Order: sequence, then structure tokens, then C-alpha cells
Amino acid sequence: MCSSCSSGSSSTKSWIVHGIVAGAAVAAAIGGGAYLVRYRKFRARVVGIIPARYASSRFEGKPLVNILGKPMIQRTWERAKLATTLDHIVVATDDEKIAECCRGFGSDVVMTSESCRNGTERCHEALQKLDKKYDVVVNIQGDEPLIEPEIIDGIVRSLQLAPDAVFSTAVTSLKPEDAFRSQSSEMGLIPYNKSGKVNPQFPYMLHLGIQSYDAKFLKIYTELQPTPLQLEEDLEQLKVLENGYKMKVIKVDHEAHGVDVPEDVEKIENLMREQNLS
Ligand SMILES: *[C@@H]1O[C@H](CO)[C@@H](O)[C@H](O)[C@H]1NC(C)=O
Ligand SMILES: *[C@@H]1O[C@H](CO)[C@@H](O)[C@H](O)[C@H]1NC(C)=O
Repeated sequence: MCSSCSSGSSSTKSWIVHGIVAGAAVAAAIGGGAYLVRYRKFRARVVGIIPARYASSRFEGKPLVNILGKPMIQRTWERAKLATTLDHIVVATDDEKIAECCRGFGSDVVMTSESCRNGTERCHEALQKLDKKYDVVVNIQGDEPLIEPEIIDGIVRSLQLAPDAVFSTAVTSLKPEDAFRSQSSEMGLIPYNKSGKVNPQFPYMLHLGIQSYDAKFLKIYTELQPTPLQLEEDLEQLKVLENGYKMKVIKVDHEAHGVDVPEDVEKIENLMREQNLS
């Protein structure tokens, strides 16, 4: 229905249709003011969970990799701390080294099982183990160390303002060069132009890995059986829509700088130097 992503990568980034997104954003903008008063307390308690596993086929020990002097997981956590909508932030890991490192810089840690198949399952397990109850869970991927806190706040608020939605996420404009690159890689671009080429005029979108869930829905989500489009596109989120649930998508300005393979570290460090980030 709306997207496909690089096969193999754990559904972090994908290409998504403009139409659905624009519709969702407009709906959020119109609905916003009216719901603010009525639902001020709706889904008020929010936890940010950073799932971090040690083993990774493409990048062993990735969360601990040093980026300009700090472990990547610490950089992600520090960004998340700046978000104003989170009541609590916790790292969920299966690894003692990661746990120790996180406690060292001041993060709370929940130990989760090695058998979690992906970040969503890890968030779900972590949520069960927390002392307090939460209404919203934000799944903050540890491989986007430059994630803007405003994006976290944006997806949380969109879920708080949309009682009929159970899931929220963000997209950003896809740069033309990336759209062209997608043609020569295994990435698929949606919508597919009949000419078979990238249409340079079309406002394509890139889906960011960050997502938030209604806490009750998270349990349902992990138990939903895979759906045809999800399997066809290897995109976990599609089963939300295929099961008839509603998802909010906000559009943000963001340069995606995910760290997927060891070579990405140097790229992100160069960029941080250019932008005087430390
Ligand atoms: C496809 O892209 C071209 C530009 O490359 C555009 O002129 C055309 O309208 C698009 N749609 C179709 C159906 O070809
Ligand atoms: C991730 O975990 C969810 C929840 O358990 C599961 O339904 C989904 O199929 C998994 N996705 C992948 C890509 O393994």
C-alpha cells in the first residue's frame, strides 16, 4: 500500500507515499486545537525506550561504537533527554557491557532477553518490566545518534491528539540524489512512475525509523500475525494498516544519518565536525 524498504535492514528506513502522509499531517493540524482541551490528559504518561542489542550481523557491538569521543548509545540517550514529552527514558538491552556503559553515563537500564527478534519486541518486554505504568511507548532507535528531540516530541503529541490512532511515526523529504540512488540499489521507490524512472518532480518521502505506540496496542502489535503486504515489502509497520488500525505520520525536516555499518561512523563524524557538533 505505501512503502518498501531496503531488504535485510530491519525495517528502519523505507520509502513512503506522499498522499497518505500529507493527509495525515493535515488531519493532525486541523484536529490539533480542538483535541487539546478535551484530551489534555489523554495518553499522558510517556516512556522512551532505546532498544540496544550487542550482536548484529553487520556491526557487532554497534551501540558502543565511539562517535567523536562518546559511545553512540550515549549520544542517542542525550538527544532523547532533551525531548520534553518523555517522563522516563530507559535503555533496553540483552548485554551486560552495554548495560554497564549506560549506567555509567546515568541512564536507567532494563535487561531484556537475547531472544527478542527486533526492537519492537524488546520495547514490549522492557515495558512489562518497568515499575510504573505508561500510556505511550516511543521506540527510539539507537542507531540515529543525531535524532532531533523535536521529532520525538512531535510523534508523541500526534498520538496524544489522535485517540483513534495507535501508532505514530515520521517522514522527511527524500533528497533527489537519494531518490536516484534508490534506483540503482535494492531500494524501491513508491509511487512507481510508469516510465520506470524516478520522477524528479515528485515529492517523495523517506520514512524515519522512530515510532511510538499506544502502550496497550504494543502488546497487540507484537502478537499480530504477519500480513501479506508486510511480508512482500519486508516492512513491519504495514501490518498495522492491514489490520485496520490507524497510524499518524508527521512530516519533519531531518537529515537522516543512521549508522548501519562501520563505514557510517566516519561519515557521521565528518558531518558533526562540519556542523561543529560535539
Ligand atoms: C513520470 O515522470 C515523468 C517525468 O520523469 C512525468 O513527466 C510523468 O508525468 C510521470 N508520470 C507518468 C505516468 O509517466
Ligand atoms: C518484529 O517483531 C514483531 C513483534 O513481535 C513481529 O510481529 C515482526 O514480524 C518482527 N519483524 C521482523 C522484521 O522480524
